Amino acid sequence: MDEAIARDRDRALALLHEWVASEGLRRHAYAVEAALRAYARDLGEDEDAWGCVALLHDFDWERHPTLESHPQDGEPVLRDLGYPDWFRRAILAHADHTGVPRVTPLEHHLYACDEMSGFVHACALVRPQGLEGLEPRSVRKKLKQRSFAAGVNRDDVVRGAEEIGRDLDEHIAFVVAALQPVAGELGLPG
Ligand SMILES: [Fe+2]
Ligand SMILES: [Fe+2]
Repeated sequence: MDEAIARDRDRALALLHEWVASEGLRRHAYAVEAALRAYARDLGEDEDAWGCVALLHDFDWERHPTLESHPQDGEPVLRDLGYPDWFRRAILAHADHTGVPRVTPLEHHLYACDEMSGFVHACALVRPQGLEGLEPRSVRKKLKQRSFAAGVNRDDVVRGAEEIGRDLDEHIAFVVAALQPVAGELGLPG
């Protein structure tokens, strides 16, 4: 039963909506989901499972908005609902401060897609054409501009690409392409 819940998108989405009221944070979850699903497809991994982990990685943020509580205090909630160990471990490992090391491909890719999806999303939001024609070069230029999307940790973005063994430009282009099909859900044109 616990393996089924890990792949149940409707269940994950309902939980996300129950815990997260902010459209911005919901969109962050959709963006990371789209990126992780695309990587899972690329790698022949379990797309539904990776997608659900992505949808729920920040589900507790509004109730636990500090590093002392997120995502550690959300983890027992997921355990009680029946989410398996590997699922909850990946969520714990997306946050460096938990001290849970990233070992599996899922863990590395969640980390790599978390900040990158947020950053690409931010880049697209300030362009009239959204994600369309967004080049790695201009994303990198924005990364150097510290005042832009200042909440995104640049070191995490670079380290994320390294952790999944991808060139930074390749990772940027991959995430841009992954977000394009869900542009509407992200509040972007397209
Ligand atoms: Fe988080
Ligand atoms: Fe996140």
